[in-house]
Amino acid sequence: MKSTTSITERPPSARARAAAALARARRRTLALTDCLGEDELSAQHSPLMSPLVWDLAHIGNQEELWLVRRAGNRPALRPDLDPLYDAFRHPRADRPALPLLGPEAARRYLGEVREQALAVLDTADFDATGDPLPANGFVFGMLAQHEQQHDETMLATHQLRSGPAVLDAPAPPAAPPDAAGLPREVLVAAGPFEMGTSTEPWALDNERPAHTVDVPAFWLDTVPVTNAAYLDFIADGGYEDARWWTPEGLRHRRQAQLTAPLFWRRDGGTWLRRRFGRTEPVPLDEPVLHVCWYEADAYARWAGRRLPTEAEWEKAARHDPDAGRSRRYPWGDADPTPEHANLGQRHLQPAPAGGYPAGAAPSGARQLIGDVWEWTSSDFTPHPGFAAFPYREYSEVFFGPGHKVLRGGSFAVDEVACRGTFRNWDLPIRRQIFAGFRTARDAGPGEAR
Ligand code: AVJ
Ligand code: FE
Repeated sequence: MKSTTSITERPPSARARAAAALARARRRTLALTDCLGEDELSAQHSPLMSPLVWDLAHIGNQEELWLVRRAGNRPALRPDLDPLYDAFRHPRADRPALPLLGPEAARRYLGEVREQALAVLDTADFDATGDPLPANGFVFGMLAQHEQQHDETMLATHQLRSGPAVLDAPAPPAAPPDAAGLPREVLVAAGPFEMGTSTEPWALDNERPAHTVDVPAFWLDTVPVTNAAYLDFIADGGYEDARWWTPEGLRHRRQAQLTAPLFWRRDGGTWLRRRFGRTEPVPLDEPVLHVCWYEADAYARWAGRRLPTEAEWEKAARHDPDAGRSRRYPWGDADPTPEHANLGQRHLQPAPAGGYPAGAAPSGARQLIGDVWEWTSSDFTPHPGFAAFPYREYSEVFFGPGHKVLRGGSFAVDEVACRGTFRNWDLPIRRQIFAGFRTARDAGPGEAR
């Protein structure tokens, strides 16, 4: 048996992986847009978001810029589109008024660009030593990640739109039998670990380079904060109690009138939430979703704890104390499977807390990858030795105290855009992203080992 199938079972080549990642992204892009009519695709469902037709053609324009023109050295297809789909030229609120391609023209453009991109992929020099763009297929991985990131953004637009549901997916796996008995927190011992990467071929510039960070001992929640725990914070008057909020958080809470996670509403004695066009009771055992950094930070203080730093999060997710090295993922170096993590929009919600035991980290922490993006206490800053690549606008222009780092990825993240080193960031007021959090505390001197 084995000998006759060994050729097909051989791991796919880097070129085949790139082709598969691009094809998977495109299937998702089309699935997210084929389910809506022309009006809904062109409408702005929220001032926070672009019309879906903007994301659609922007995906194609980025692919033309990087795969067709730069990597392929081919002539431009539609240079006239460059200014329309430059995210830095037009703020989101102005995009509906632009002379955008309609849905049919956008789909056609995507198809024409993809045809050329695949021809470029066929002949690209994956072994290039002088040019880091084609080496290991980086530029193809970068564009697959870009498309998947916009797919996640488009899914957030779906969540913001009103009207009947158009998306469907099976429920995530129920919590395993041991979930109720898990320790509340896990200890991560003091010591140095390797943060970031210099070897992951498709890691983006902000994940590089690998460097050593010494992290004091700390305790981390075994699982993300649940809706049940968050409801205790609400019921205890957490939103009204100034003790738990930073001055900026307090100002924002008042001005935005925050009283509960986005998409929640109280109906008599029960809390309901709207999820992709359907209203349902808030599930108590699910990680809380759609809270901003200020809410996460206030909850942690109310709980007598704090948000983990980004370095703490990555050490808990990657450090293997026995081997004394960092893993690609909490469970090891193998790519994610559906047993490891809730990724890839296979489900349209996080799995109950305590799930995915096969994806646990050496520390025992679960669901670090998938389910919900996790707010950290850290500002988005460059790793020491950072070099912008291939363009400053991917990461560098966002560095600074204005953006907070999120780690781990949500149910809406494809595995191509998710690793133990992957870094996301957003404004501390953002709530429409698929973000929750877990909390941490310093370990006492006796616990530090
Ligand atoms: C890394 C998710 C913050 O969506 O703004 C998409 C990704 N960069 N196009 C974003 C991105 C350029 C970015 N995030
Ligand atoms: Fe983009």
